[in-house]
Amino acid sequence: MTGRKFFVGGNWKMNGDKKSLGELIKTMNAAKLNADTDVVCGAPTIYLDFVRSKLDAKIGVAAQNCYKVAKGAFTGETSPAMILDCGVKWVILGHSERRHVFGESDELIGQKVAHALECGLGVIACIGEKLDEREAGITEKVVYAQTKVIADNVKDWSKVVLAYEPVWAIGTGKTASPQQAQDVHDKLRQWMKANVSEAVASSVRIIYGGSVTGGTCKELASQKDVDGFLVGGAALKPEIVDIINAKA
Ligand code: G3P
Repeated sequence: MTGRKFFVGGNWKMNGDKKSLGELIKTMNAAKLNADTDVVCGAPTIYLDFVRSKLDAKIGVAAQNCYKVAKGAFTGETSPAMILDCGVKWVILGHSERRHVFGESDELIGQKVAHALECGLGVIACIGEKLDEREAGITEKVVYAQTKVIADNVKDWSKVVLAYEPVWAIGTGKTASPQQAQDVHDKLRQWMKANVSEAVASSVRIIYGGSVTGGTCKELASQKDVDGFLVGGAALKPEIVDIINAKA
């Protein structure tokens, strides 16, 4: 037993509308979910209020991004305070699509992590290497550097979940093998022990994301250092219930 509560986040990305998300919410509300698993749904910003109002209170809601300051002339941005104002208590930050599609730097992600935590949000902080970085044998170097920037901006690790999402497994249908996931999660936990503290290394949830499905979740969940998932495509389907119950 690791003592860490299993955590399953759904990242709905830029998908859905009130009708389809309303149906997904009905399915999740009606499902028998493992009470020993924390569940959070990452909804598009425009639907945060709608989703929070429809989803059973036992299921958390996350924004998929936020800005690094409280207010001001930042057209189109959303502040942590606005997210909390909708009753939403989590935010996903540093997702590979924010990094590699929208060009967010490690520095900006670190500033967002600091401000979100300062405002009281829980943070699902994403890291992960690209295929060329894995093939070049620098996976550890990349994920350690990303984790350091996050760690430099965290005072209270109880509000942080670290999501390892190899970019080459996101949206590709190609999942990291359970051993590949375990290897990186183990290295990350060792990094936390050496650079943060033994207590944080032991308690922080490190979750895996990248083409997790109902078919792959159980073997991944059986890995000692895999504490849950951040799920994309499968989170929009009824199979998310199986993934949430992977440890049941
Ligand atoms: O944040 C989770 C996401 O990046 C994984 O997407 O569709 O590969 O499960 P997917």
